[in-house]
Amino acid sequence: MLQKLQNLVRSGEKIAMLTCYDATFAKLMERAGVDILLVGDSLGMVLQGSENTLNVSMHHMTYHTKSVAAGAPNTVIMADMPLGSYEHDNEAAYKNAQWLIKSGAHIVKFEGGGNRVDTARYLVEHGIPVCAHLGFTPQSVNQLGGYKIQGKTDESAAQIMQDAIAMSNAGVSFVLLEMVPATLAKKITETIKTPTIGIGAGVDCCGQVLVLQDLLGIYSGPADKDLSEFKSPRFVRNFLKDTNSIQDAVAAYVKAVKDKTFPASEHSY
Ligand code: KIV
Repeated sequence: MLQKLQNLVRSGEKIAMLTCYDATFAKLMERAGVDILLVGDSLGMVLQGSENTLNVSMHHMTYHTKSVAAGAPNTVIMADMPLGSYEHDNEAAYKNAQWLIKSGAHIVKFEGGGNRVDTARYLVEHGIPVCAHLGFTPQSVNQLGGYKIQGKTDESAAQIMQDAIAMSNAGVSFVLLEMVPATLAKKITETIKTPTIGIGAGVDCCGQVLVLQDLLGIYSGPADKDLSEFKSPRFVRNFLKDTNSIQDAVAAYVKAVKDKTFPASEHSY
């Protein structure tokens, strides 16, 4: 299935990816033509009502990966490696990645460049397809000082480019770029041979991803916060507003990604 996706990219078609955490939505998304279902650790916020992704565990991830796999047997499933499951040593990372694959994922995603390149290479050499998540990396939200655009200075843009090249050379299947300037994402996409997937990274990436609940306009921040305290990020578009059903909203997202009308410049940095 991953090979089919690589061919899609080679033919110039954009990849439409969405987060998914359960079997019902997985089935709906498969019918709507979503190319990749991401079992994201964003489930910490969206399903568990937390402020961030930091308390998500391997048990949470495998539980939801199994649910998604049950609902969408014919779609590529990517699963996030949660904080603490891949940073310490490569062998532990491999065991946890294997657990996600056994739960139904086709590919695992983890955050960071730099010293994570070696982990990516190790997993790829041991037969585990990897997506490298660069730019804004939510598991480092405290080090990054909040939800901030990355790659704005020449130095930070050069670092993200260097990490993307290193990850590509390590053999990862995708590079996901979150909240980086559209011009930087375009440059990376043109430089590396690995397909890029963007969220808040402009229209020139090879594919796009959004959190399902954002697309439906129903995510309003941590459970203990007042609704008025929450402001949707710039890269979010509510696709339910102009359609009559969740199924149609998801299909509209897929179409907008494929015909390059999403993201527009107002969704980019
Ligand atoms: O967990 C998640 O939903 C993600 C997206 C922000 C890409 O990693």
